[in-house]
Amino acid sequence: MTGTTQQPIQLAERAKLLKPSPILMLAARAGEMKAAGQDVISLSIGEPDWGTYECIKTAAIESIKKGQTKYTPPAGIPELRRAVAAQATEDYGMPFAFDEVTVSGGAKFVLFAALQALVNPGDEVILVAPFWASYTTMVELADGKPRIAVCDETSDFKLTPALLERTITPKTKVLLLNSPSNPTGKIYTREELKALAEVLRKHPQIAIISDDIYNRLCFTEKLAPHLYHVAPDLRSRIIALNGASKSYAMTGWRLGWALGPKPIITAMSNYQSQSVSCASAPSQYGALEGVLHGDADIVKTVALLKDRRDFLIAELEKISGVKVTMPEGAFYLWVDVRKFIGAGRKAPGSAELCQMLLEEKLVAAVPGVEFGLEGYLRLSYALDKEKGREAVRRMAELFKTLA
Ligand SMILES: Cc1ncc(COP(=O)(O)O)c(C=O)c1O
Repeated sequence: MTGTTQQPIQLAERAKLLKPSPILMLAARAGEMKAAGQDVISLSIGEPDWGTYECIKTAAIESIKKGQTKYTPPAGIPELRRAVAAQATEDYGMPFAFDEVTVSGGAKFVLFAALQALVNPGDEVILVAPFWASYTTMVELADGKPRIAVCDETSDFKLTPALLERTITPKTKVLLLNSPSNPTGKIYTREELKALAEVLRKHPQIAIISDDIYNRLCFTEKLAPHLYHVAPDLRSRIIALNGASKSYAMTGWRLGWALGPKPIITAMSNYQSQSVSCASAPSQYGALEGVLHGDADIVKTVALLKDRRDFLIAELEKISGVKVTMPEGAFYLWVDVRKFIGAGRKAPGSAELCQMLLEEKLVAAVPGVEFGLEGYLRLSYALDKEKGREAVRRMAELFKTLA
């Protein structure tokens, strides 16, 4: 061995592509500062600050006591698959069977598996900017190419039929839709979905992944409108993602699911079977209780969020130059800060603005650029009103020096 120099092992190309989630990194930095005794207020992470509902905790504890702690089938326990199918049958007014459902360790992995199951090298996946920051990397990990349709305030940050038509190419394989949207909280209306469906009918090679993770946290109606409602004929091309993290306040339990055509669901379950085996058994029993009996708690959550939303928007609108998009669901505010950033200014972009907010004012927010659109901040309002008020006061202090 003497005289030989050890070369560092080279990473695979795929791993070189992989960037850590910027939102989780920001949250980690804010956490470190908090741990060091700094009074950081975090508006950065998409995580409920209220606890998992009691009925869910009890059901999961009972399941552990009963010994339901073993591997489960890769696609999930049949009870949960049946409950999700029954819920979807009621939500969308058409029958879903339990083998059209797969359960996994969070909607994030469900999306990952769906892209792995659908995308061939070079296939294009249409992402609607502003979009959830993880979408691009996940598409690239499936050897796909993100093709980004950038939407602005003129369409409420939503995809229009004309833009969809212009973005489709012969290589388009998937359209990824998210309603209510993270980061804008905007919801596609039935009419808007109908119009998108008309375009999609002309391109039968395109699968639609509908990320419905916030569909029950909706201020306009009980459930966000869905393509299933307005275009049931497209059903064989839709994969609908959902999960327990947001509606049932179960982020740390890691539990998500998908509805979709049987062959795609089977491929996704196989992907899971050969990677992480199955979702955690107690989490599945907990989520089962949520799906069966969590509706009353969701109603309370939505009322709480609406109150916080209105309060925080009123506070933000006191800052001259700030414009807030009115969210219709989820728990984020999409805040226009273009007045405070740009070439020649102290904060050239939203990333630098967030850096200043964190380091100088101890407020963690996520830069719009991470969602594919510069000029905005995303603020999570899954925090109590007093903290929200104080965070806005600090933001106002900083913005005054930048205007
Ligand atoms: C739009 C969107 N989709 C999917 C997820 C993933 O949720 P989970 O993996 O916790 O189920 C999130 C989480 O923040 C999200 O915001």
